[in-house]
Amino acid sequence: MVEARISRRSLLMGGAAITAWAASPVSAMLRTIQPGRDAAAIDALIGQMTLEEKAGQLSLMASAWGGGVATTLNPAGDNGSFAAQIADAVAGKLTGVFNGNGAAMALQMQRAVISGSRLKIPVIFAADIIHGHRTIFPVPVAEAASFEPSLAERTARVAAFEAAGAGIDWTFAPMVDIARDQRWGRTMEGAGEDVLLGRQFAAARVRGFQGKSLSDADAMLACAKHFAAYGAAEAGLDYNSVDVSERTLRDVYLPPFKAAFDAGALSTMASFNEISGIPSNGNKWLMTDLLRGEWGFQGFVVSDYTGDEEMILAGFAKDRRDAARIAFLAGVDMSMKSGVYVEHLPGLVRDGLVPQALVDASVRRVLAIKARLGLFDNPFRRIDLKREKARSRLKTSLDLAREAAVKSIVLLKNDGNLLPLAPTARIALIGPFANAKTDLNGPWVVYGDNAQAINLATGLTEGMAGRGSLAVVAGSGVDKPLAGGIEAAVAAARNADVVVLEIGESENMSGEAQSRDEITVPAPQQALAEALAATGKPLVIVLKNGRALALEGAVKAAPAIVVGWFLGSEGGRALTDVLLGKASPSGRLPMSFPIASGQEPFHYDRKATGRPNPSGDLLPYKTHYRGIPNEALYPFGHGLTFGDIVYSNLAQNSPAMAWDGSLEISATIANRGRREAEEVVQLYVHDRVATVTQPIRELKAFRKIRLPAGASEVVSFKLRREDLLFIGTALKLTVEPGTFDVWIAPSAQADGVHGTFDLSAA
Ligand code: BGC
Repeated sequence: MVEARISRRSLLMGGAAITAWAASPVSAMLRTIQPGRDAAAIDALIGQMTLEEKAGQLSLMASAWGGGVATTLNPAGDNGSFAAQIADAVAGKLTGVFNGNGAAMALQMQRAVISGSRLKIPVIFAADIIHGHRTIFPVPVAEAASFEPSLAERTARVAAFEAAGAGIDWTFAPMVDIARDQRWGRTMEGAGEDVLLGRQFAAARVRGFQGKSLSDADAMLACAKHFAAYGAAEAGLDYNSVDVSERTLRDVYLPPFKAAFDAGALSTMASFNEISGIPSNGNKWLMTDLLRGEWGFQGFVVSDYTGDEEMILAGFAKDRRDAARIAFLAGVDMSMKSGVYVEHLPGLVRDGLVPQALVDASVRRVLAIKARLGLFDNPFRRIDLKREKARSRLKTSLDLAREAAVKSIVLLKNDGNLLPLAPTARIALIGPFANAKTDLNGPWVVYGDNAQAINLATGLTEGMAGRGSLAVVAGSGVDKPLAGGIEAAVAAARNADVVVLEIGESENMSGEAQSRDEITVPAPQQALAEALAATGKPLVIVLKNGRALALEGAVKAAPAIVVGWFLGSEGGRALTDVLLGKASPSGRLPMSFPIASGQEPFHYDRKATGRPNPSGDLLPYKTHYRGIPNEALYPFGHGLTFGDIVYSNLAQNSPAMAWDGSLEISATIANRGRREAEEVVQLYVHDRVATVTQPIRELKAFRKIRLPAGASEVVSFKLRREDLLFIGTALKLTVEPGTFDVWIAPSAQADGVHGTFDLSAA
C-alpha cells in the first residue's frame, strides 16, 4: 500500500502532486526501487530514459532560489530564475540542486517534478552542511582539537537532523583534506595535519551525517571531498597545482578518504587541483582505477563547482564538449554547475566518443543512491515545513554546540596560572571581535545566522553575573585601525585587573580562496596588543582563527594564550566557561603553530634529513632556517589544562613485538595540580631504519582521560604490526622488522616518556 509508505505529513506537504505520483503507473514501478536493492527496477527505468534525460540525471545545478547566505553563494541571476530551473527539472535536465532555500524551495521543485515530469524521478537536494545547519558547531578543524571523534559524530548527527528536516538529502561534507600548509585558507574545514586524526574524524563525520540508515528521514548522504590532495596546493595557494609522489598521496592524502568510504560515504567530489599535470576531473587513474578498481567504491563522483569546465583554462581540454568527454571518461559521474554534461553527453554518445554503457553505469549509480536515500519510496521524505522549524536550534542542539566549543578550545600558554580568571575581577575585554555580531560562526556556513550566535562580551556578561566589572572596547578594526581605538583600549586596560584581548582573523580571511602569504595577526591588531602589553596589565590573548597562526611580539609574549577558532552558535559562552574556570581546557592542536610563516608547509611528522639539528643551539650546516629552529612554537598535540600533568614510568610487556603478536606499552599520567583535568595521552612511533625513510614521529594512538586533582592513571596502548605500516618501495603497504622508538607524550614535540622495541621477523 502506498499510504503505508508515505507519511501523512508528507501527503499533506506534497498535496496534489504526491497523489498524482502515487497513482501513476511509473511510480508503482519506481516504488519497487527500494533502498539498497532492486537493480532490475533501476535498469528498467534506465531503459525508458532518453539520452538527454540520462545526461540530466548526471547534472547538478546551484539552486536559483537561495536565501540568507545562500543568496551570496548563488547570486540572483547567476542561475537563472527559479521558474526556469523548475522547468528544467520537469524536463529532466537536472538531477537536483544545491544550496537552495530550505523546505519551501524543495517542496515546490519536487512537487513540480513528481506531478509534471515524464519519468517522475525525484530530484535530490544538496547543500554545504559543513559544521551545522542552523545550530552552528565549531569549524571542523576546531572540533578536531577535541581529539574526540565521537564528538564530531554527534555534531554531524545533529547537523543532519536539522538539515534533513529542512529538505536536504545530501551534504558536501566531510572535507577530509590533510592540510599541512597553513597559508591555505581551507585548513579550517578539515581535521588538520595528521593522518590518524584525519582518518578518525573522517569516519566519525560520515557516520554522523549518514546515521543508521541512509533512508531515514534524518540521514543525509555524505560526500568525502575534495578527491584528492587538494590540501597539498603548492605554496598554500588555493586551487594551485599539486605535485606529490604517489607514495605521499597514498601515505598522507588518501587514507582519510579510504576511511570515509569504509565508514559508508557514498559520494565524493573531484578536487579543483591537478596532481602532477593531470587535473582530478580528468584523472582516470584516480577516479576509476584507484577509486573503483582498487578500493571498490560503490558511490558516485561529482565534480566540484564547474571543476570539469575549468579544465579548459587549465589547458587540459579544448572546449566545453572536450571537458565533458574528458571528465566523464575519467570517471566523474556527475557534473556540478557547469552544465557541460547536459549540454554535451548526448552528442558525445551519438558521435561514438563516449560509450552509452558508461553513461548507463553512472546513471545507475546515481539512481541507486537516490533509492538508498528513500526518494523513490517517498520523494517528499525530507521535505516538511513544520519539521524544518521544529528541529531548528533545539536546546539540546545548542547545548551540544556549547559542549563541542568548550572541547575545541586550546590553551597554549598559561604562565603563572593567570587563567582561570575570577568572575569578580575587573576585566577589560578588548578587540574587534569582542562584541561583534559577525565572525562568530565561521567562513563556511550557508544557513546559520551570526546574529543568533553568542559573542564573548555576551558570554562574559552572563558568566560574571554582575560580579566584578566588564569594560568592552573594540580598540581596532580587523585589518584597519580605528580612530582613537588604541587610546580607548589602553584607558580601559588601566582601569582593569586583567585584559582579555580577542584578536585574529575575520571569517573572510580563511576558507575557500582565502590563502594568506603571512599567517600573522593583522598589523593594526598587533599594534593594539603591543599598546596593551605596554600598560603592564596581565594580558590574556584569545585568538580567533581558521588556521594556525605565527604569533609575534606582545601576542607571543602574553602570559596566557587561548586558541578560540570560530566556535559557532555558543562560542562566547564556551570561551567564558574556560576563561572563568567552569571548564578545564581540554583541546589539543590538530596542526602545529610554527615559529614563523616562512616555515610553512610545516608538519610534525616530517623526515629527519641527513643533517638534523638536535634541539638546542642552531648548529652550522644543519637543517634549520637562519635564526630559528625547524620546530613549531606550539606543536601538533599541544594544549594545557588547569591541572599539572606529569608523565612517568614507560612500561612495556616485552622488549619486542612478535610478527603476529602485539605489544602493550603504558605510562603513568598524574595530575599534580589542584583542579580536575582532561589529558589527551598520545602515542608516537619512529621507525629507525627502513627501505623508505620514515617520519621523525608519527601518531599511532591517543586516549583522552579525565584526572581528578591529585589522581594518577596508568594508560596503556596495544600496538600491532598493522600500526607500523607504510607505503614501501613497491608502493604497497608494507612493514619491516627492526627497531622502533616509542613515546607516550603530551604533544608531538614533548619528550614525555620514551622507550624502544623491536619488531621481530616473521
Ligand atoms: C567548493 C566545494 C563546495 C562547492 C559547492 C566549491 O567552490 O570547493 O567545497 O562543496 O563549492 O558549494
